[in-house]
Amino acid sequence: MSVMERFSLDGDVAIVTGAAQGLGKHMAGALAEMGADVAIVDVQGEKATTTARELDGETDVIAVETDVTDEASVEEMVERVTERLGPIDVLVNNAGIVENSPAEETSIESWRRVLSVNLDGPFLCAKHVGTQMLRRETGKIINIASMSGIDVNVPQKQASYNTTKAGLAMLTESLAVEWADRGVRVNAIAPGYMRTELVDDVLEANPDMEEEWLENTPLGRLGRPEELRELVVYLASDASSYMTGSTIVLDGGYTSR
Ligand SMILES: NC(=O)c1ccc[n+]([C@@H]2O[C@H](COP(=O)([O-])OP(=O)(O)OC[C@H]3O[C@@H](n4cnc5c(N)ncnc54)[C@H](O)[C@@H]3O)[C@@H](O)[C@H]2O)c1
Repeated sequence: MSVMERFSLDGDVAIVTGAAQGLGKHMAGALAEMGADVAIVDVQGEKATTTARELDGETDVIAVETDVTDEASVEEMVERVTERLGPIDVLVNNAGIVENSPAEETSIESWRRVLSVNLDGPFLCAKHVGTQMLRRETGKIINIASMSGIDVNVPQKQASYNTTKAGLAMLTESLAVEWADRGVRVNAIAPGYMRTELVDDVLEANPDMEEEWLENTPLGRLGRPEELRELVVYLASDASSYMTGSTIVLDGGYTSR
């Protein structure tokens, strides 16, 4: 098989959570461009519908309003995607939130909110999509972790976020080992600072922060969301057939300093 064929997603069905905007939207577009039908799964129903319309083209792109923290909502989403597009080949667990506050001032409600979206969400989606993949003995799961799960990036204080992203890398390894002999590969991507709405919100609250970020980033700039596209296609396709349990860092050199 040629290299091009190994990267192809022709006829595959992919779910990308949190894809109404930001990194998820770019990754969903990349999977569609490589031939997959894609479900835009997001708690922002209307925005997900607009994004799905925008990306709908050669392949089918649909929107499914879902709260990834709610198991019943996830189960219903898996049923709807399967009914409308067919059995699921690729799951990208991308939905995530960040709440910045010094640890000693962080409420338990805030702590639990972040854990719930960033850890419960990927677990529930992997569990219910994974059940179907294990039955078919084929599938790829890609978790969007963060460099914050590897290095404590400064100056913002975000212990809950950092903890969830480290946990997500370990969930990736655990599922990879559990499911390796049943056709399901599980990998993660750990991005550095990518210019999305999530990052814009953090910078709006702390305008001086960007300078410190750039000083600590060897490539000297923030990442562009579209710079994640080729990596997600690699992990979603047969091109990565010998890779499972890995977390690939894409951070402009931040964690290499
Ligand atoms: N932007 C960065 O610099 C950066 C760096 C490292 C990791 N990440 C990770 O990448 C992922 C995407 O980040 P982004 O910058 O595109 O963020 P974003 O805020 O632009 O998008 C996140 C999406 O997730 C959705 N979402 C939130 N809670 C949800 C829920 N309960 N159920 C379903 N959907 C929900 C939101 O509606 C939104 O559309 C996150 O997991 C984030 O932690 C981002």
